[in-house]
Amino acid sequence: MTVSIPTKWRSVLPHLDAPLPPDRTPARVTADKAVSVNLPMALVRQCTRNDEYWEIPLPVLDAYRSYRPTPLWRATRFETAVGAKVPIWVKYEGGNISGSHKLTTALAQAYYYRNAGARELVTGTGAGQWGTALAAACALFGLRCTVFMVGSSLSRKPYRGVLMNMLGAEVQASPSGTTRVSRSAQGQGNSLSLAIGEAVEYAAGRDGAAFCIGSGETYSILHQSVIGIEAGEQLQEQGGEVDAVVGCVGAGSNFGGVALPFHAEARSQGTNAPLLVAAESSSAPKLTQGIYAYDRTDSTDTSPLEAMYTIGSSYSIPDSHSAGLRFHGAAKLVSALRHSGHVAAMAIDQVVALEAGQRFATTELVVPAPESGHALAAAAQLATTGADDLQASHGVLVCVSGHGYLDLSAYQQLLDGELNDQSPDAQALLAAVSGLAPVSTTAAVAQ
Ligand SMILES: Cc1ncc(COP(=O)(O)O)c(C=O)c1O
Repeated sequence: MTVSIPTKWRSVLPHLDAPLPPDRTPARVTADKAVSVNLPMALVRQCTRNDEYWEIPLPVLDAYRSYRPTPLWRATRFETAVGAKVPIWVKYEGGNISGSHKLTTALAQAYYYRNAGARELVTGTGAGQWGTALAAACALFGLRCTVFMVGSSLSRKPYRGVLMNMLGAEVQASPSGTTRVSRSAQGQGNSLSLAIGEAVEYAAGRDGAAFCIGSGETYSILHQSVIGIEAGEQLQEQGGEVDAVVGCVGAGSNFGGVALPFHAEARSQGTNAPLLVAAESSSAPKLTQGIYAYDRTDSTDTSPLEAMYTIGSSYSIPDSHSAGLRFHGAAKLVSALRHSGHVAAMAIDQVVALEAGQRFATTELVVPAPESGHALAAAAQLATTGADDLQASHGVLVCVSGHGYLDLSAYQQLLDGELNDQSPDAQALLAAVSGLAPVSTTAAVAQ
């Protein structure tokens, strides 16, 4: 048997303990400030209906053929290097033009937006992988593309900008100063929520333009389910057994993509799911130190408030090489599963993450993105000594969400001994969540 590209996405919504808490309208929205986000009905349905399987449209499937199924292998040399007691299986999502898993939802979204009549897609991007993915998908489906990229990240990785330009996209460094939200956020510095806020506002003012986003939304996680579906079949084909599945978490799409099909499968078979471990950055520790509360996803103050584990959207996350993990909240789907005890989390320091990345490069000959280094470090811990009460007894599956060829400056700093860990400021964390409404009275600070 040779594993082929899945023809259907698999949703975990039918397997939740309770429906997702509905979004809330922010109290301060006024008519003059409100911006609207027009989501194609196809994407709305993917977030609201309880269907488990969703046919992948043929043009999207056709585009997937250039890079799927992605490779899965047992990383035996990495296992030896870290002293693993159980096998570590790697699912690698870096082998496409965007360099990460993000292309998998970008293609689907561009297809649906184009069918709904959009002529331009606008977005915000942190590390640049999502912006690149959207630029590529827009090029394929004949749409214009504008990307607001976190400025500090763009100056660190100028070639991301070049690649997006090459694909026909316009790139603006955020804060751009051209939008109301960036002018009123002066002094807040660079953040993904600001870049997203700029994109929301910019799209709302342009005819035929639509804002779209690549990570935390339930439909993005659905599109990413091909990662876990393929991995499940590849493990079966190669005789691999795992009792832990790991992905890094910015908002949660590669983690959700690799892990949640295992949850859905276990639920439908009535078996025990593997341990699903979200590896976050210790500088943005929403799942390990955040609270389950209603918070905003961007800086506009007009987008709906979502139920999420958050460290507070006003918390100033230190700059880091893992820009894709510099987000204050986790996707509402991942958050709900965390709250119901089906998702565990580990916070990883950036030095530990990059050391794991370097070890992976020298043993498995793949340079992982710094974000993916967090997942590799967590996988190594689960396969060796364990972390707190988390330990794998049979095997670990880890998603390496992207490559790190445009992040070599991070590895350079590691080699030069110039990298530091960035512990969160406890007082600032507390202040940033203090005004947020908890999702329920039983919501507690995550373990
Ligand atoms: C390589 C890579 N991994 C992980 C992430 C985190 O995103 P998510 O949590 O949506 O998978 C990003 C985001 O930019 C990324 O570029």
